[in-house]
Amino acid sequence: KKILFVASEGVPFIKTGGLADVVGSLPKCIDKKYYDVRVILPKYVCMSQEMKDRLNYKTHFYMDFHWQNQYVGILEAEYDGVTYYFIDNEYYFNGFKPYSDNTLFEIEKFAFFSKAALSILPVIDFRPDLIHCHDWQTGLVPVYLHERFQGSDFYRGIKTAMTIHNLKFQGKWSIKEVQDITGLPMSFFTPDKLEAYKDANLLKGGIVYADAVTTVSETYADEIKTPFYGEALDGLLRARSGDLRGIVNGIDYDEYNPETDKYITHPFNSVNFRKEKIKNKRALQADFGLNQDDKALVIGVVSRLTDQKGFDLVAYVMDELCQDNIQLMVLGTGEEQYENMFRHFAWKYPGKVSAQIYYSEAVSHRVYASCDAFLMPSLFEPCGLSQLIALRYGTVPIVRETGGLKDTVEPYNEFESTGTGFSFMNYNAHEMLGAVRYAEKIFYDKKREWNKIIDRGMAADFSWQVSARKYQEMYDWLIG
Ligand code: ADP
Ligand code: GLC
Repeated sequence: KKILFVASEGVPFIKTGGLADVVGSLPKCIDKKYYDVRVILPKYVCMSQEMKDRLNYKTHFYMDFHWQNQYVGILEAEYDGVTYYFIDNEYYFNGFKPYSDNTLFEIEKFAFFSKAALSILPVIDFRPDLIHCHDWQTGLVPVYLHERFQGSDFYRGIKTAMTIHNLKFQGKWSIKEVQDITGLPMSFFTPDKLEAYKDANLLKGGIVYADAVTTVSETYADEIKTPFYGEALDGLLRARSGDLRGIVNGIDYDEYNPETDKYITHPFNSVNFRKEKIKNKRALQADFGLNQDDKALVIGVVSRLTDQKGFDLVAYVMDELCQDNIQLMVLGTGEEQYENMFRHFAWKYPGKVSAQIYYSEAVSHRVYASCDAFLMPSLFEPCGLSQLIALRYGTVPIVRETGGLKDTVEPYNEFESTGTGFSFMNYNAHEMLGAVRYAEKIFYDKKREWNKIIDRGMAADFSWQVSARKYQEMYDWLIG
């Protein structure tokens, strides 16, 4: 069976967040005996030179798009046993980052990408049985497949699945302009198709036209059917609840392995972490200008700094929290208000708070490996990979019980001696502070209990094994 992933980012080629981790790790975990999985990504000008050097030019052609004949270059690469194709067009995939803030240009760019992804298939001589689309950037793939390619033998009968990694981003703009850009007939822009609240909505198009819809945890699959989490598409998702399923993400166990990790100073495993993990902590405390204090509970954050991630709660109780004997290590980039908030607290509490406002794969591994606890108080979290990485590195997650955080972190229960982390339910700063202080109490007063929490977390299995099988079941069910 032939499966094609179409996505806007994928490790190791280009990454802005968890979507890239998923696209870079799930395909290679799909059983090669039965499935031929390939991936289509944009060839961004901002990709690292090292990655660009891996791509081989295959061919190019011109495609009718937005009243023009647009160049579509095709490049190819093999990585970890998976074939990747890259769509090249320097007008659209220019820029310092994969995404820009100009919504209309983004919509045009990913409309082009979606159409090109379908158009290259006869050229590369790959007719998938199923196309697996990810997020709004590929929402038009099922739509174009339905519209333009319905009449052709090559495309007839190809199934589609749409995975929602983040419902907040939908690709919305005025119908008039989206119609003009996409070239889709006006009849597509009605409330039962692409129209949502008077605008054209690309993710909605994908959800309506895909044969199956998934999201990245069971709890998020339930949440998005409610108005609070539904981002105004909850009605549609309720209507499609028969084919909406939640499949929790895994992480790449080769890439995130504390025993073989090239980025960390002192590798460790589930047996020797009691002695070895702390050496990473000392090294990073020194590098980040934090007090050299073995005993202090070091709490880590590695995150996009956006309102999704719950840092409003942190801002609210930061002064209180900093009265405790804790340290906070933050690695992240994003909205200026959060970047400045962490910079401010790093200035106010030197030696206790460190704000590393940049993006670095290497440093992120060191933070996961060095900290005692990992804070993720998200407002919403479709799945979340950071808490899974933290668990694997013996770093105890403190999370809000939402989406994938709820499904993957089992709250500590001191009476039964169970659980892998600490959690709180309501989006409330003092509830979060309560959870952090409970963690402090166990960390300082019951070290053996704390270490058992780590034991359980490191023993939990968040590899792709189970979830890859669930995707395979879905593919089989759709393809028949
Ligand atoms: P999201 O996709 O919403 O950003 P996830 O938890 O699913 O959240 O995935 C985030 C991924 O991005 C993780 O692999 C995390 O380590 C990584 N990441 C986030 N911010 C940074 C940063 N500043 N430097 C390095 N890696 C980061
Ligand atoms: C999104 C979500 C995150 C999820 C990731 C991968 O970026 O915000 O929760 O883990 O996609 O599915």
